[in-house]
Amino acid sequence: METGDPVPPPWASSLTEVLLGTSQIASRVSEIGASLSAHYEGLNPVLLIVLKGSFIFGADLSRSLSVSHEVQFIRAKSYVGTESTGEVHVTGLEGVDISGRHVVVVEDIVDTGLTLRQIRKKLTGMGAASVESCVFLKKETDRRGKGTPDETWVAFGIEDRFVVGYGLDFDQKFRHLPFVGVMKEA
Ligand code: XMP
Ligand code: MG
Repeated sequence: METGDPVPPPWASSLTEVLLGTSQIASRVSEIGASLSAHYEGLNPVLLIVLKGSFIFGADLSRSLSVSHEVQFIRAKSYVGTESTGEVHVTGLEGVDISGRHVVVVEDIVDTGLTLRQIRKKLTGMGAASVESCVFLKKETDRRGKGTPDETWVAFGIEDRFVVGYGLDFDQKFRHLPFVGVMKEA
């Protein structure tokens, strides 16, 4: 499924277009993997994959790294349906030893930046040696919180539309799509 292809029949009633196709995603992920590999040579970083949305991006990114690294998973919940609740619940950090470690937070999508900001704050408080972020999608929006630091690596900047696939869901559906599609307006 390539960028701009017609939406496959099973999803045609829910999605308006194929925004990012599989080969475009794959080549961008390997570029980013090369960049991270150069940056983290010899540092044995921790990839902190934020579930559920980053499970596919995180898996592909990890496999694109040519340097030794560890993988951990956390949860961050901030959305119900397509609306922000303004609250972020981060769980799973209790079991992760972050102190003195170089951490890369792997996120599916950044909108206001609130989720990532809260996660970063916790990690810094836990004594991480460094905290960088690697996000699959970044929405170009004016909802972005003031003073929010830029993400270190961004695979794609996208318009402010609700997208699904490659890990991203609408009410837990569509995560498995191997491409990123745009949801039809309700
Ligand atoms: P903030 O505002 O904290 O939002 O940067 C990040 C979280 O919002 C969710 N989100 C989306 N999820 N399609 C999705 O499936 C979207 O278009 C979308 N926009 C925001 C997502 O959970 C992300 O972690
Ligand atoms: Mg998410």
